[in-house]
Amino acid sequence: MKFFVDTADTDEIRDLAATGLIDGVTTNPSLVAKTGRDFTEVVKEICAMVDGPVSAEVTALETDAMVEEGRKLAKIADNVAIKVPLTWDGLKACRTLTQGGTMVNVTLCFSANQALLAAKAGATFISPFIGRLDDIGEDGIEVIRDIRAIYDNYDALSTEILAASIRSEDHVKRSALAGADVATVPPQVLRDLTKHALTDKGLAAFMADWEKTGQTIL
Ligand code: E4P
Repeated sequence: MKFFVDTADTDEIRDLAATGLIDGVTTNPSLVAKTGRDFTEVVKEICAMVDGPVSAEVTALETDAMVEEGRKLAKIADNVAIKVPLTWDGLKACRTLTQGGTMVNVTLCFSANQALLAAKAGATFISPFIGRLDDIGEDGIEVIRDIRAIYDNYDALSTEILAASIRSEDHVKRSALAGADVATVPPQVLRDLTKHALTDKGLAAFMADWEKTGQTIL
């Protein structure tokens, strides 16, 4: 499974990209607003830090304007993926943009039927929001599982499932088990994936025993 970072904070992205484990980045208007910075500048900076897709979301609501915004954003760098909302206008924009060779991430997906439509519209990525589904008492992972099963039924559908709205390490694990192609993960959740009490305890014991030997490796 690929890991994208779900943030527009360029310091966080720089730091995490240095691990070599980051395959892309997702932003949205709320994440950009949090930075207080110019949208185009932020996207340009992020695109230079990671080789993989960087999602930048249109803010128009009507197809032609979405396509125009998408084309403008796509000019920022070769690795920009245009994010469009899962509406009829968004799906039409998705079709036009992908036919023109631009990557498109269809966002705000909450059902398997929506994901089926996005795939038929040629989406590069579909973003089911699992955390927000859990918030309203539904099972976000179940939606990922359903999308996986549907996409696997049809060779013609090549859209990648991008598990979004991830809130916990458990969401990451269960997205992988459910067959998501990508998980976009908030920086803190990504950092927490290394953590386990027994890792800390085991490392402390190894270090204490090593100290007793009085040896050094270098
Ligand atoms: C990413 O593409 C989504 O915009 C993001 O994961 C949404 O997460 P949230 O539900 O925590 O806002």
